[in-house]
Amino acid sequence: MKKSVLFVCLGNICRSPSAEAVFNSLIKKNGLENLIECDSAGTAAYHEGEPADQRMQSHAIRRGYRLTSIARQFDPADDFDRFDYIIGMDDDNVNDLQDLASSEEDVNKIYKMTDFCSQGGHYSIPDPYYGGSDGFELVLDILEDACEGLLNEVRG
Ligand code: 4NP
Repeated sequence: MKKSVLFVCLGNICRSPSAEAVFNSLIKKNGLENLIECDSAGTAAYHEGEPADQRMQSHAIRRGYRLTSIARQFDPADDFDRFDYIIGMDDDNVNDLQDLASSEEDVNKIYKMTDFCSQGGHYSIPDPYYGGSDGFELVLDILEDACEGLLNEVRG
């Protein structure tokens, strides 16, 4: 059975679509397309149906990541069953996901992205939406580190 990962942030237009693209790139690089799949969602519906934030797309493409996902809201009725790992980008995302969980099995699927970092010092992926360029670069720096650790965890 394929392992499945869902990345979750607030709007699903900056951090979680980037996590999806970075992780997909690693899956492809390691030839694991038949074993691991991923998707992304937002805890809020503000940007549902929109492509990723243009600033996030520009920073990502410079590192070779094409952000193709369209924003959608996290669906507790479906996503807890569909995914093996449900990964929030910050503490608010994790708390919101925990509030939406309806069983211990659901709760046990919830992680924070920085749990998988090997470089210390980061305890969340900071929301870049209201900040400048540095924030978008920091998102990608932390995601590249965390995705390596996550891949090792998921592939077992
Ligand atoms: P994301 O960033 O959660 O990484 O997609 C945000 C996108 C939109 C908003 C906040 C954060 N917003 O307030 O609209």
